[in-house]
Amino acid sequence: MISEKLTKALNDQINAEYYSAYMYLSMSAYAEGAALKGSANWLYVQAQEEMTHGLHMYQYLMDRGGRPTFAPITQPPHSFTSIDDVFNQVLAHEQKVTGGINAIATLAMQENDHAAYQFIMWYVNEQVEEEANATDIIGKLNMINGDKRALLALDNELATRVFVNPFPANAP
Ligand code: FEO
Repeated sequence: MISEKLTKALNDQINAEYYSAYMYLSMSAYAEGAALKGSANWLYVQAQEEMTHGLHMYQYLMDRGGRPTFAPITQPPHSFTSIDDVFNQVLAHEQKVTGGINAIATLAMQENDHAAYQFIMWYVNEQVEEEANATDIIGKLNMINGDKRALLALDNELATRVFVNPFPANAP
């Protein structure tokens, strides 16, 4: 059975994953309104992924005899100044999420909960990828530097992202 401390930490993380989904949906709506449908697609797929993370953690807590409790989800930002602003906020957010995931890994280690440690390591690796993806897009946006044709090319690239559930058994 999982400890109360780890239950609370994972519970908070479930909330953070759903906040992430809200945030990405809000960003997707902004991008679509700005005629950047490819960026909107990328952000929408990201929102879908975040929901699978929340469900995966929920299922894990249940499997370990924990009991999730559901706190309100904070309202995400609604206004953005540009698509550059959006992706800069994506990176800042994912860096914050990485901090939360690492804290859970540290707690699992301190408690000698090898199963929880193994579980959260998937997210430790996932965060490396999430930060790298955001950094990559920001790098391209910096190169584009307001050139509309180049921005359109990047938007077309972001249109190709397809949602793949990393945990098919927990499909939402
Ligand atoms: Fe589920 Fe973007 O971290």
